Amino acid sequence: MSVPPVCLIQHFFMKERLISQAINVLDENFQPGGFTIPCKGLYPFQWKWDSGFIAIGQAYYDVSKAKQEIATLLDAQWDNGFIPHIVFHNESDTYFPGADVHRSDLSPVSSKKYKSTGMTQPPVTGFVLEEMYRIAKDKEDMFGYIKSQIDKVYDNHKYFYENRDVNDEGLVFIYHNWESGTDNSPIWDDIWETMNPPEYTFERRDTTHVDASQRPSKREYDHYLYIIEIAKENNYNDAKIAELSPFLVIDPLFNAMLIKSNQALINLYTLIGDNDDKIAQLVKWQVKSIKGFNKKLWDKELGAYVHYDLRKNKPISFVTSSSFSPLYANIPSKERADILVNTMMTKFGGEDKYLCASFDPESDRFDPKKYWRGPVWINMNWILFNGLKNYEYNNIAERVKEDSIELIEKYGFYEYFNCKKGTENAGYGGDNFSWSAALLIDFLNN
Ligand code: GLC
Repeated sequence: MSVPPVCLIQHFFMKERLISQAINVLDENFQPGGFTIPCKGLYPFQWKWDSGFIAIGQAYYDVSKAKQEIATLLDAQWDNGFIPHIVFHNESDTYFPGADVHRSDLSPVSSKKYKSTGMTQPPVTGFVLEEMYRIAKDKEDMFGYIKSQIDKVYDNHKYFYENRDVNDEGLVFIYHNWESGTDNSPIWDDIWETMNPPEYTFERRDTTHVDASQRPSKREYDHYLYIIEIAKENNYNDAKIAELSPFLVIDPLFNAMLIKSNQALINLYTLIGDNDDKIAQLVKWQVKSIKGFNKKLWDKELGAYVHYDLRKNKPISFVTSSSFSPLYANIPSKERADILVNTMMTKFGGEDKYLCASFDPESDRFDPKKYWRGPVWINMNWILFNGLKNYEYNNIAERVKEDSIELIEKYGFYEYFNCKKGTENAGYGGDNFSWSAALLIDFLNN
């Protein structure tokens, strides 16, 4: 019998150790109500897109938890199909702004069972169901579960296309930066310039958990709260929000996640059978969305997809990690994908950097420590890894994966990381962060 080389044995033990640490993080953050918080203190409730990524990791080692994660989220769905970005299943005074600020009860269609926010987050749930099916060992059991949940996700997509596609072009808007998932991205800076919100008095809780230099400023929070106030004055009515919100953006990441999830729903309904009407509708949305996306969001000069400001009716011409997410949803042609990946490697891919910074490192708005203004995020890396593989950029995909593993192994299960190699203590934000743990499990099994 031949003996495996020492490096392979070391790699095996490293992998086993990291997986067991990751499971530990997830189990520590799992709550008795059947959902997982992103991390203790800083984010003490259930978040929408976090739950999706978390369920992917859980599906490897505890399918019942993964199933509960998505079921508890979908249980908070509103009558119109909307799924909120935070579900306040539990009480906690470590987070601001809580349920009493968001006041989901103002909407006539909100859940009567749970308090929540009145904004959403990227629609990942469709492709998460497909991932759970891929990972599950007992396919029949998972198939039964998916059948019991999938219509809720379909209703969520219907909500988006019927209420948020203001130009009837297959692209849906977000009305708040927190809906993007990339909270304080420099993308929004010029929008804040158009607003002059009051100076609110409130007690922030995030900066009691995390160094203030790694978080948004007080003035940024004033803007965030102001948009919520406008939405509340209009009882979270989408048509009114589309008319009045100073923030109205088509976000490439958000729309790419919707398109990826459309495809997952088509695939799953095809497996289930007897759902021809829904499949036909999904295909219609899908064709229109991909066409609209390529037409409206491609920036030729930058060689990348960009955000679009519906208030000013013009593109927001900056490159972010969201610019590359369309690869995951098979949106670009191969020719366009080549240009996109070239942009990514030229701006973000230097040997002195981990892939992939969240904002253009060549821009003067880049900040390697501040949240979504530059740091590397593991969920974005996971999306990019899978997107790069879709188009067979296998070496770059491997680098994204190896960089993600190295960052966590070196610095811990942090929320985000400095992209500059050799930085001391390069892990920032919340520690023992759930999606970093969950997606590491997937990376290590891939
Ligand atoms: C931060 C992130 C957001 C995430 C939330 C909970 O607000 O910007 O994307 O969902 O934390 O982890």
